Amino acid sequence: MKTLIVYSSLTGNTRKVAQAISEAIGGSEMAPVGQSPDPAEYPLVLAGFWVDKGQADAKSKDFLSRLRDKMVGFFFTLGAYPDSPHADDVERVTAELLRAGGNDVLGSFRCQGKVDPELLERMKRMLPPDHPHAQMTEERKARLDEAARHPSDEDLMRARAFADDIYRKALSAPARPGKAARQ
Ligand SMILES: Cc1cc2nc3c(=O)[nH]c(=O)nc-3n(C[C@H](O)[C@H](O)[C@H](O)COP(=O)(O)O)c2cc1C
Repeated sequence: MKTLIVYSSLTGNTRKVAQAISEAIGGSEMAPVGQSPDPAEYPLVLAGFWVDKGQADAKSKDFLSRLRDKMVGFFFTLGAYPDSPHADDVERVTAELLRAGGNDVLGSFRCQGKVDPELLERMKRMLPPDHPHAQMTEERKARLDEAARHPSDEDLMRARAFADDIYRKALSAPARPGKAARQ
């Protein structure tokens, strides 16, 4: 099945995950968002993004909002813990956006990704001192230290398993009447 992997990545975390996913799906095509071929040609699209202020980064959000009637899997990296309500919200909002375009959401994958130290410095400089992102609490330090270890080899292994699972689901999904044929 023709499969397109489109990703957005500022500092390389999401690109690493996209790469692992593309290795798992032989014959897939991978491109950065904004430079991808027309998704209309692909029955299965896997879209990856980094989380920016609690949602998909702007370029990815634009891409996701244009997808129509596809089988879609999505993946994201974020600074927060993957089992946090914050990560759950990102997943829910993204799935809703995709479903609004008539897409079948076959699944999603998430993992932490190291946060750019420059961003952390900038926040410290620019935000008022009482802002939570200007302060380094024990909890925040532990979270950022953990994020700095991701995506790990284990994350990439799980990303490959996710890709296998999505691909299998796509192959066995019943054709939807009125939608483009799945090849
Ligand atoms: C401007 C900016 C905003 C961010 N906002 C969030 C956020 O709201 N929630 C979060 O968990 N992580 C946030 N992060 C962390 C990134 O999502 C995380 O480091 C991600 O792995 C970066 O992926 P990339 O290396 O593919 O660009 C933010 C990072 C940047 C640079």
